Amino acid sequence: MIPSRFLPRPPNKLFFHHNVSLTVSVAVGTPLQNVTMVIDIGSELSWLHCTTRNTTTNMVIPDPLFNPTLSSSFTPIPCSSPTCTTRTRDFPIPASCDSNNHCHATLSYVDASSSEGDLAFENFRFGSGYIRGIVFGCMNSSFSSNVKGDSNTTGLLGMNLGSLSLVSQLKLPKFSYCISGYDFSSVLVLGESNISWVGPFNYTSLVQEQDRLPYFDRVAYTVQLKGIKVGNNLLNISDTVLVQTMWSGQTMFDLGTQFTFLLDPAYSALREEFINQTNSTLRVLDDPNFVFQMAIDLCYLIPTNQSLKLLQNLPSVSLVFDGAEFIVRDEQLLYKVSGLRRGNDSVYCFTFGNSDLLGVEAFIIGHHQKQNMLVEFDLVEYKVGWAKKETQPHRSWFSGTTAVVEVGEAESTAAYFFFL
Ligand SMILES: *[C@@H]1O[C@H](CO)[C@@H](O)[C@H](O)[C@H]1NC(C)=O
Ligand SMILES: *[C@@H]1O[C@H](CO)[C@@H](O)[C@H](O)[C@H]1NC(C)=O
Ligand SMILES: *[C@@H]1O[C@H](CO)[C@@H](O)[C@H](O)[C@H]1NC(C)=O
Ligand SMILES: *[C@@H]1O[C@H](CO)[C@@H](O)[C@H](O)[C@H]1NC(C)=O
Ligand SMILES: *[C@@H]1O[C@H](CO)[C@@H](O)[C@H](O)[C@H]1NC(C)=O
Ligand SMILES: *[C@@H]1O[C@H](CO)[C@@H](O)[C@H](O)[C@H]1NC(C)=O
Ligand SMILES: *[C@@H]1O[C@H](CO)[C@@H](O)[C@H](O)[C@H]1NC(C)=O
Ligand SMILES: *[C@@H]1O[C@H](CO)[C@@H](O)[C@H](O)[C@H]1NC(C)=O
Ligand SMILES: *[C@@H]1O[C@H](CO)[C@@H](O)[C@H](O)[C@H]1NC(C)=O
Ligand SMILES: *[C@@H]1O[C@H](CO)[C@@H](O)[C@H](O)[C@H]1NC(C)=O
Ligand SMILES: *[C@@H]1O[C@H](CO)[C@@H](O)[C@H](O)[C@H]1NC(C)=O
Repeated sequence: MIPSRFLPRPPNKLFFHHNVSLTVSVAVGTPLQNVTMVIDIGSELSWLHCTTRNTTTNMVIPDPLFNPTLSSSFTPIPCSSPTCTTRTRDFPIPASCDSNNHCHATLSYVDASSSEGDLAFENFRFGSGYIRGIVFGCMNSSFSSNVKGDSNTTGLLGMNLGSLSLVSQLKLPKFSYCISGYDFSSVLVLGESNISWVGPFNYTSLVQEQDRLPYFDRVAYTVQLKGIKVGNNLLNISDTVLVQTMWSGQTMFDLGTQFTFLLDPAYSALREEFINQTNSTLRVLDDPNFVFQMAIDLCYLIPTNQSLKLLQNLPSVSLVFDGAEFIVRDEQLLYKVSGLRRGNDSVYCFTFGNSDLLGVEAFIIGHHQKQNMLVEFDLVEYKVGWAKKETQPHRSWFSGTTAVVEVGEAESTAAYFFFL
């Protein structure tokens, strides 16, 4: 069978649900304009929807917008600039020249939507930090994907390893985030975290590509998966499934994907073992027509009045990496499908799915499993770590030298923005 193509980024970016994206409030330009941006560790170029006029009607296209014509610090980047010729080297679609000799970028996504715009320098204020001359894309057309559906979102903050990502532009030695599983607040820390409210970290090395492989995303946060355990049982999954080959096998940490997706041989082994170990306590929803979010095919019927007790007695699922285990337990294993009832039962779905159903030839560790953990990316020692949140950060943590920017819309997960 011909593998479904794992396209280079950004086409494999997946925004399942705009209301599970992590957003931050940022101020841009001179004078400052307030914008809301989705944080995405799988993308490189940060971009904003810019005001444009329809060339036929001369009408302003309405949307949440950044208006570059009102900013004195907005500086378009010419095609001849080294920023355009060399720093765009990691873009999946090469930068080109528009009719004004401005550096032109095209972004395209897995749902066939795309956006075009010009690169420019602009000043950004993140919390209390004001940074001049950040390269971003001033996009002139809208996405048809879910990013656009989030009516309060003006753009996206690209945080992957590419040469023009925010992480690279700010030369960050580290960044970390914690997504709350209980409310909509989250924390994004740029720089050293030094956080006292988490337990010890488990670290695994980030993997660099050895050979030039056509379907390997070189600028993603890639780790090496070694195995999967259910309870104490290590599943029988061949190494040939877990290592990167010509066509598949990359394991990526992602923030734009809600759940975790595994290549079919690994997913099938996990599904079978999890069903086996839970068959005396949980009832599988036996309905071949029900596939949650088009990609999750294992769901359960749980009496509404018993959900808590059942969830707390599930076997854990561990992702075993080089040097570290990532353990998923309790509510992080089953996700309650909001508003869906079958008789007196609620429907809960397994938070691991089959990559094949997504058409992605890779392992993707999504953000649901990372709730209530601090996930840290160390770009000096080139490793990723995770630690459990042990206590609620004291309110004083959100004040002092660090600045709380703003909590976004209640429907989105909003992040506090810190420079430490
Ligand atoms: C956001 O997600 C919740 C469930 O998590 C759902 O009930 C709600 O309808 C969603 N909102 C939108 C605008 O999709
Ligand atoms: C931008 O946000 C800040 C802080 O939330 C607020 O004080 C300011 O009035 C806002 N500016 C505009 C133009 O909305
Ligand atoms: C501009 O307006 C024309 C006429 O209303 C319309 O057909 C066209 O799609 C519009 N273009 C854009 C980019 O919105
Ligand atoms: C704006 O978008 C249209 C099509 O989406 C494209 O043809 C045009 O070149 C773009 N203009 C700029 C300045 O990016
Ligand atoms: C880290 O936090 C501890 C206690 O909160 C403090 O004493 C120490 O100075 C901090 N270190 C850095 C590098 O900020
Ligand atoms: C693991 O799977 C392989 C191939 O599917 C099989 O040959 C082998 O016997 C299995 N090992 C165990 C311990 O079940
Ligand atoms: C289910 O578990 C039992 C005992 O734990 C084991 O004998 C059996 O082989 C398992 N079945 C599958 C399909 O893994
Ligand atoms: C349930 O699991 C037990 C062992 O854990 C196994 O013996 C039994 O066959 C399983 N039943 C079903 C219906 O899979
Ligand atoms: C849950 O409700 C069912 C009836 O729907 C009842 O028989 C059962 O005792 C209840 N269980 C608990 C733990 O309340
Ligand atoms: C739901 O629970 C109620 C009361 O516990 C019971 O009377 C009813 O028969 C149950 N309905 C189904 C479909 O099981
Ligand atoms: C770190 O790994 C150890 C065992 O390898 C495990 O017991 C512990 O729960 C892990 N911690 C986290 C936060 O995943």
